[in-house]
Amino acid sequence: MKILYAASEAVPFCKTGGLADVAGSLPAALAAQGAEVAVVLPLYQKVKEKFGDQLYFECYDYVDLAWRHSYCGLFSLERDGVTWYFLDNEQYFNRPELYGYMDDGERFGFFSRAVVRMLPHFKFWPDVLHCNDWQTALVPIYLKDDGVREDRFRSIRTVLSIHNIEYQGRYNPQVLGDLFGLDHGWADDGTILMDGDVNLLKGAILCADAINAVSPTYANELKTPYFAHRLDGIMRRCSYKLSGVLNGIDVKRYDPATDPIIAVNYSAGDMAGKQADKAELQKLMGLRQEPYVPVVGMVSRLVSHKGLDLVCEVLHDMMELPMQLVILGKGDRKYEEFFQWAANQYPGRMAVRLDYNEELSMAIYAGADLFLMPSKSEPCGLSQMIAMRYGTVPIVRETGGLKDTVQPYEAWRDAGNGFTFANYAGSDMLYVIREAVYLYKDYPDAFARLRRRAMEGDFSWARSAGDYLHIYSSVTGQPWPPVTEEAEPAPAEEAPVQEAPAEEAAAPAQEETPAEPVPAPAEEAPPEPAGEGPSAPEAVPAEEPAAPVEELPAAAPAKAKKPAAKKRTAAGKTSAKTGRKTPAKKQTTPGKGTAGK
Ligand code: GLC
Repeated sequence: MKILYAASEAVPFCKTGGLADVAGSLPAALAAQGAEVAVVLPLYQKVKEKFGDQLYFECYDYVDLAWRHSYCGLFSLERDGVTWYFLDNEQYFNRPELYGYMDDGERFGFFSRAVVRMLPHFKFWPDVLHCNDWQTALVPIYLKDDGVREDRFRSIRTVLSIHNIEYQGRYNPQVLGDLFGLDHGWADDGTILMDGDVNLLKGAILCADAINAVSPTYANELKTPYFAHRLDGIMRRCSYKLSGVLNGIDVKRYDPATDPIIAVNYSAGDMAGKQADKAELQKLMGLRQEPYVPVVGMVSRLVSHKGLDLVCEVLHDMMELPMQLVILGKGDRKYEEFFQWAANQYPGRMAVRLDYNEELSMAIYAGADLFLMPSKSEPCGLSQMIAMRYGTVPIVRETGGLKDTVQPYEAWRDAGNGFTFANYAGSDMLYVIREAVYLYKDYPDAFARLRRRAMEGDFSWARSAGDYLHIYSSVTGQPWPPVTEEAEPAPAEEAPVQEAPAEEAAAPAQEETPAEPVPAPAEEAPPEPAGEGPSAPEAVPAEEPAAPVEELPAAAPAKAKKPAAKKRTAAGKTSAKTGRKTPAKKQTTPGKGTAGK
């Protein structure tokens, strides 16, 4: 199975959020299970600066998009069994930041167009092109568009992962032709139009062969208006191809026993180091050296959907408890100013750093006792998993991936791996924080067992990579694990190979997609109201975990043999792999100024 994974950021190359962590670790996990995997990213300035000398220049070509004819360089690098490709165009990507420019639509339009146009230069013709969020949402659309004219594009199946539906890539419909090179038919039939705007994510949701949300609960939430940012009707309509696959974390990178960044290493079997890390954190943040007072940590972007209003609302009540509070993050000014002000009210007990700082975040994961994440919505959330891995017990609101990863503490049967609350209400949050703080102080043995359960959870990619391989298998019709030649000669032909996918991918999306407005099935239950439900006195309402929207078969055993990989020699491939190492390739786009050097 040949997978091309397209993303706009990936660790260790470039990162602004959780997408980068996923794109940085899932591909290697897929490769470890026997798939052939390549990833394609833009060649940002940051990547060039940090990895320029490791990049291998493959070739260049020109990409036509609307009236533009732009240079596109192709660089590569091998890492953990995965080929990483970087698409170079200095005008678009040689800038200090990844996003936030007024021409982001044009930049990622170019990137998505280039991913499809550069396919002949990649080491294989993919069976599946897996794209992520709005920045690569045009990929399935371009494949359909090109597939009408060129057969070879029809063989590729597409998967779209939704990491956060809030960002949809919305533009004025007048730019459809000029920026994205698409015929107005795509808007006329409503495929790419939403509320009068071009909406790239909506187009991809309709065009992709499979879509998945980054946790089972988020997949269900996306069918309700409260979470779907107006795309709930589309999500309900596409629920037949929607699944929820929980993210994993890189458990090698995040291992308290070996992590070189934290002050002292430790493990579930020997927790002495964690106490030392706590002392170190208190010193670092100017908190009192109080070994028996629980430290509550937060590492978060300071934005509303992270649930910060709740923290602001009950902060003073929290600080009445025998606890310390550490906050790291930056974001909206109102939160920054409030937390800074509050920290001054509680010197030695509360500390705030308005920063994005990897090292300090690890000091908090390692040194804190409790980790607070009261998100209003959280597609998956990785911080709670990292915290658990470091024995820092999470306190979370039951939404999205938080609900799927944290099971509430139940004293009576000594179960659970954290503390949870359901309603978006400050009083409910305060209730569980109090419960957590007093469990730490008054019942250290029970707290130690709880902490141990948190540390022993399996948050590796091994399980979820298997779920993705089953999605790939279902859209391609290729069996997974692959059927090996030696096994069972008889039924070999009957396997549904290549040509047998359920729908005819080549059929232009236009026919199947009725125009706006989308008729929303009426039977959906209304979503849980956001905030003001009565607060549950027992904050552990033990709702059963949401079932995955579309249950996938259990993960395959990881033994899969590598299918004999026939290297496709793509037409038009220029002298690839000549061994030339020309890291900072000069750009030669006619008529385009090169931004910077
Ligand atoms: C987004 C989501 C976050 C998720 C991450 C990776 O950043 O907000 O919840 O963990 O993507 O999928």
